[in-house]
Amino acid sequence: MDVTFKHVTLTYPNGVEVLHDLDFQIPAGQLIALLGPSGSGKSTTLNLISGLLRATSGTINFGEKDVTKLDALQRGVGMVFQNYALYPHMSVLDNIEFPMKMAKVPRAERRERALELAKLVRVDDQIDKKPGALSGGQQQRVAIARALAKRPSILLLDEPLSNLDARLRVEMREEIRRIQQATKVTTIFVTHDQSEAMHLADKIMILHDGVIQQYAEPQKLYHAPVNQFVAGFIGEPTLNIVSGDAIRESLYQIFGTRTQLIDQVGIRAEAITLAELAEQTIKVPVTISRVTAYGRDYHAQLTMGGHEVVSTEIAPSAPIATEVLANVRLSGLYAFDPVGNRVYPEGGEA
Ligand SMILES: Nc1ncnc2c1ncn2[C@@H]1O[C@H](COP(=O)(O)OP(=O)(O)OP(=O)(O)O)[C@@H](O)[C@H]1O
Ligand SMILES: [Mg+2]
Repeated sequence: MDVTFKHVTLTYPNGVEVLHDLDFQIPAGQLIALLGPSGSGKSTTLNLISGLLRATSGTINFGEKDVTKLDALQRGVGMVFQNYALYPHMSVLDNIEFPMKMAKVPRAERRERALELAKLVRVDDQIDKKPGALSGGQQQRVAIARALAKRPSILLLDEPLSNLDARLRVEMREEIRRIQQATKVTTIFVTHDQSEAMHLADKIMILHDGVIQQYAEPQKLYHAPVNQFVAGFIGEPTLNIVSGDAIRESLYQIFGTRTQLIDQVGIRAEAITLAELAEQTIKVPVTISRVTAYGRDYHAQLTMGGHEVVSTEIAPSAPIATEVLANVRLSGLYAFDPVGNRVYPEGGEA
């Protein structure tokens, strides 16, 4: 089922408007990540989809149906919260069955469905245990199975992996992807972890202060961020930011007099190298202070026009503490105007 927001705002009872004019469509059958820093409005947006919150203005549609005024029960979405509280005194199978029991699904039918779901999320060898005897990842999967029990047309997951350790998070995000592909249920996944969103989602919606910054495929966000916020939020290491003034002469090499329009420059760590490249670059003076090797990865700290920047493309053999000319690939360089909108590369989102 697709989800459409038209000019949706939300003001909490304290009078503060926390979501401003949200306008988007989530196509049926896709997995969408809602990504943004703490307080940006992710959970609020999710609760508007579930019906736990009512929009202050605007309309929400599921497919053709206007659900703006329907409550959570009537909307029938499946939800997994950050603290996915399973019922501790019930077995795994009873937990999965519970929503169907509430909905008065006949016993034999709900048992069959619960077993099917246990198999889908791969806890079918754990069904008689109590939640307390499961690992975090297993509990997580039971919570997902329970949310899927009533065959929701939309599945909402609010930071479901935040309680798990790093390794399990990576495993579970693959699991969520697999389960989503198997069920084809439209899924909206909240996270503040950009790499999780990048690995998991068909499209990512980036929220900041209750405003959608960009809503696009992961690769597009990485290569064509619309503004400095998105550019800085996506990618690891974090985008280097240098003021236009600090490298004005270097920028002049390609931008000519348009250089004046540039306030800040964002440079990806992989775009700074000492090697001569066939692709288009600008030459920028830098001083390398330190290069550390992590396995086969490098992490070089350098100064560029008085700013500390990081490169992943400079080897430990590079000259330290003397000024050298680095090559900066234009493919990893973005220029922003004084309000943070991207002015280079120019045009659309391409
Ligand atoms: N019940 C409430 N009453 C008033 N303000 C609220 C309420 N719930 C949340 N807010 C405010 O709304 C804004 C968005 O909150 P929300 O919980 O949607 O953020 P979030 O992106 O989910 O953050 P996090 O990553 O920390 O979970 C925040 O400024 C928050 O303080
Ligand atoms: Mg939240």
